[in-house]
Amino acid sequence: MCGIVGIVSNKSVSSSIINALKKLEYRGYDSAGISTLNNGFIDEKKCSGRVENLEKILFQNPSVGDLGIGHVRWATHGVPNQINAHPHSTDQVSVVHNGIIENSDKLKKEYEAKGYKFKSQTDTEVITIILTDFLKNENLVDSVYKTLNKLIGSFALGVIFKNYNDLVVGARRGSPLAVGYGHNENFIGSDSYALKTMTNKISYLDDGDFCLLSKEKVEFYNSDKKKINKEVFELSNEDNVVDKGDFKDFMSKEIDEQNLTTKKCLNEYLDKSRNEINIYNIPIDPNQIKKIRLIGCGTAYHSCLMAKYWIEEFTSIDVESDIASEFRYRNVKLNKDDLYIFVSQSGETADTYAALEKCKKNNVKTCGIVNVVESSIARLSDFVLPIHAGPEIGVASTKAFIGQMLVLLLLTLKISKDRKDIDPNVFKKLIDDIINLPDLIKETLSKQKEIQEIARDFINAKGTMYLGRGYSYPIAMEGALKLKELSYIHAEGYAAGEMKHGPLALIEDGMPIVVLAPKDRYFEKTISNMQEVIARGGKVLMITNDKSKTLSENIRFKFELPDFQSHISAFLLTIPIQFLAYHVALLKNCDIDKPRNLAKSVTVE
Ligand code: G6P
Repeated sequence: MCGIVGIVSNKSVSSSIINALKKLEYRGYDSAGISTLNNGFIDEKKCSGRVENLEKILFQNPSVGDLGIGHVRWATHGVPNQINAHPHSTDQVSVVHNGIIENSDKLKKEYEAKGYKFKSQTDTEVITIILTDFLKNENLVDSVYKTLNKLIGSFALGVIFKNYNDLVVGARRGSPLAVGYGHNENFIGSDSYALKTMTNKISYLDDGDFCLLSKEKVEFYNSDKKKINKEVFELSNEDNVVDKGDFKDFMSKEIDEQNLTTKKCLNEYLDKSRNEINIYNIPIDPNQIKKIRLIGCGTAYHSCLMAKYWIEEFTSIDVESDIASEFRYRNVKLNKDDLYIFVSQSGETADTYAALEKCKKNNVKTCGIVNVVESSIARLSDFVLPIHAGPEIGVASTKAFIGQMLVLLLLTLKISKDRKDIDPNVFKKLIDDIINLPDLIKETLSKQKEIQEIARDFINAKGTMYLGRGYSYPIAMEGALKLKELSYIHAEGYAAGEMKHGPLALIEDGMPIVVLAPKDRYFEKTISNMQEVIARGGKVLMITNDKSKTLSENIRFKFELPDFQSHISAFLLTIPIQFLAYHVALLKNCDIDKPRNLAKSVTVE
């Protein structure tokens, strides 16, 4: 997955392209490049590494031109070096691509047989060559159309042409592409966020569409080459400002603002005066729902796992959580009486989107829980519940996780109330607890220093484990994922009861182990599992709201959470595991906002 941008304007475009690329770096950051049309010649510049490397090149040797395309890469085909970086150009065309061309090997052979030479190891270069070849005999629209028809796979494309000094072409199949409208200039970008500083008027290409951008107008074509019109959306200004302020990095800012994002989300969904949850128009009457299936990837999958516990607890509905990349290919029996919930921060994750598409094709009811309301998943779902967390920039998801869990809990309670599955007094009590959540989060955030100190125990560890039962198990999984992605230390999240079935063999003297032990119905059992770990030399960081002193003896460190009801423990347990991953990574000098090999939004399979 990568980020692409294209601009056609009446003024120089390179600095706007660079600015947009910086916003797209969350999609990939192993190489970057730009092509502009300079006096009838394609001027391509690219490098491995971050956009700042590209900026340095442009500082020495500026890219001139009123139209151009740019790219940030997350390598799929070919190592991340300068040659494989995008754009990929001939003297006639220059192409940037997000996605994967699955038949690139076959196409490469076909065009090599025609005498074309390929420079890179990428799948993208075939697009450049095919387009160049068609342009010899066809007009521009036909060349684009015929090229797209030869491609199997997913793509969002941006293209400029030697012989067209007022034209950028965009195309979409599978990977997202937004079009922005300006005054005497128009734009394409992988998301609206990249274009937001230039325009708040946006359209979205649908699968199979392509578009021709000139300074004055944008023409859209569908997959049958028919001209079409597109709805223009006006973006809100609210989320325009993305700044890390006084924070060292976006992740620490995003962790720190979780009490505020939670408050904002509650303001959107809670009617405190009536003790009611403002979620209406669920696409199936809650009384008819037979089963709920929750689908997501990465951190979003962990919020699905969490919701499974809540749905089982508070409703009489059967529930399952699925990893999107599995769900999309499994022979799942889709049922009209079931509700399919897709959870995604970006709303663009390819596997989650494909799983949603599969449900849409089978006419079952879908709900998207997303942070980016203009996203593909939001637009395809029958029903959308935004999490209102504001832009999340750090690649490791933090405030979006809390937001996803919160919306999932509210949705669970709403369905439960509508079905009369929950006792009204229990419902009221839970709403009161949820209203308190921002304050409890704030209190927990204030204890960051304690985790900062214990983090040192982990930096030389070969590996670690996060253990929890019940509501704490999904958080154990999330804790392990956070540590892995940020500090590159091997970590596993385990249901504490599973330890004796194998993982206990890994415990060695001095191995740091995180035990999530809130005072809930599993508490005593978790403590027994913890003692088994301690007896084998494990150095335990215990995270709990239990205040008793007697336990502390053999525990390396006890992080005390404020008092809370067990149903909301997930939110509070999450804060210290985020801090732990953050501080271990900081001590190891890892890149906090952009961990190696990862990307924020994964728009390829
Ligand atoms: C990537 C990110 C993860 C995220 C996952 C799902 O792998 O690095 O942090 O949890 O994608 O992303 P989504 O946008 O669908 O929540």
